[in-house]
Amino acid sequence: MDYKELWNEAVKASAFSYSPYSEFKVGASLLTKEGKVFTGCNIENASYSLTICAERSAVFKAVSEGYSEFSAIAVAGSGNGDFTVPCTPCGACLQVLSEFCGDDFVIVLSDGEHKLSEFLPFRFTDKNLK
Ligand code: THU
Repeated sequence: MDYKELWNEAVKASAFSYSPYSEFKVGASLLTKEGKVFTGCNIENASYSLTICAERSAVFKAVSEGYSEFSAIAVAGSGNGDFTVPCTPCGACLQVLSEFCGDDFVIVLSDGEHKLSEFLPFRFTDKNLK
């Protein structure tokens, strides 16, 4: 699957967003090294802090089904149906991605391709625990 298709999957996944509070719909599509795609959306809660972002729902779906090696994620977010403004993954999602993905992991946003190392250059990993 190419990154354009991966991006389209993220936009499609945003349709399932449960976001009655922010009204900001986010979809993510995560590509495994085997070529399988797991999608996710943001799921909000009346107890706001329990909200989960689209990226983490995709990661948790994949890992819980036995997939934990990833090559790319596409993220599409919009409050008004216009997905042209880049929706950058939040710090919590970057840290969760960092658990499974290397510096070269690709993050596809509306403005093109980025690397995980661009957004989280000094990430905390298992190496810091040694
Ligand atoms: N959100 C995501 O799902 N992913 C992001 O990359 C940024 C923010 C969600 C969380 C919340 O439901 C809404 O967008 C507004 O912050």
